[in-house]
Amino acid sequence: MILNNFLQSRKSTRQFKNKKVSPEVLDKIIGILKDLELENPSGKISFKLYEYGENIYNGLKGLAGYSGVMIESPHYITVDIKNKSDKDMIYSAYYMEKLVTALNNMNIASCWVSVYNVDMDRRKAIFGESTTEVNFVLAIGYPKRRNPFIQEPFSERIGVEEIVYSEELGGRIDMEYLEERGLADVFYYLRFAPSIKNAQPWRFIIKDDKVHLLVKFEEGENPPLIDAGIAMYYFEKLMELEGTKNSWKLLDGFLHEGNTNYKYIAEYQL
Ligand SMILES: Cc1cc2nc3c(=O)[nH]c(=O)nc-3n(C[C@H](O)[C@H](O)[C@H](O)COP(=O)(O)O)c2cc1C
Repeated sequence: MILNNFLQSRKSTRQFKNKKVSPEVLDKIIGILKDLELENPSGKISFKLYEYGENIYNGLKGLAGYSGVMIESPHYITVDIKNKSDKDMIYSAYYMEKLVTALNNMNIASCWVSVYNVDMDRRKAIFGESTTEVNFVLAIGYPKRRNPFIQEPFSERIGVEEIVYSEELGGRIDMEYLEERGLADVFYYLRFAPSIKNAQPWRFIIKDDKVHLLVKFEEGENPPLIDAGIAMYYFEKLMELEGTKNSWKLLDGFLHEGNTNYKYIAEYQL
């Protein structure tokens, strides 16, 4: 499926069929995980498929997920980071979302599940002593058939003009300018990227032929680096569809507005 159609129609799957993915397909997934690890230059990110999902589900029930609502699926994939640098955190999400699109092409549905609130000893007991820090898992499997008579819950998205700015944060962006630069569709579809609690913390500032990505977070919170990495992945791919193949370069720095903070994540040369 073309990426923009996928983005618009994608939804987190929280209800999975009680049906295992075939061993051949699971082997193919393991191959994809190996490729993603090799593609990441730092070598500090590792993915692992847990074939027997019931062990993970039973270990995390009541503890992981929003308010302890663990998502039950036949299999799970973890992403583990060795030294937890900002860069590895960001790229762990970038590659995890690349995996999500590959799974979608194989008709396998998924949902990110947060496990960072689970006690570290328990995480080690569930995922294995050799893991360093598993903060997120991907629940995977076949989605339960949707009831056509029931309106599915839908996660609202904010408008392009609320995430894209000109010159500085808050600077009004001219939609015609976005059209001319082939960016209108890119930002339109990017809004459908998943984010923790659907916070949509991404902010883009267009200045001097560059797009700067920042993420918004409140005082006392950590910058949502995972949400940033996911958006970086989709932005690059959507730009490729528009005919521009470039990569983000990571940046440092913060902006503060009252109790709201913004972390500079990366810049993209248009
Ligand atoms: C890093 C990350 C962690 C998430 N954790 C959970 C979770 O623990 N439980 C859950 O039900 N959904 C989780 N989600 C799914 C988001 O809530 C969901 O992507 C967002 O609300 C947008 O909805 P959509 O994916 O259906 O478009 C997570 C998403 C991301 C990106």
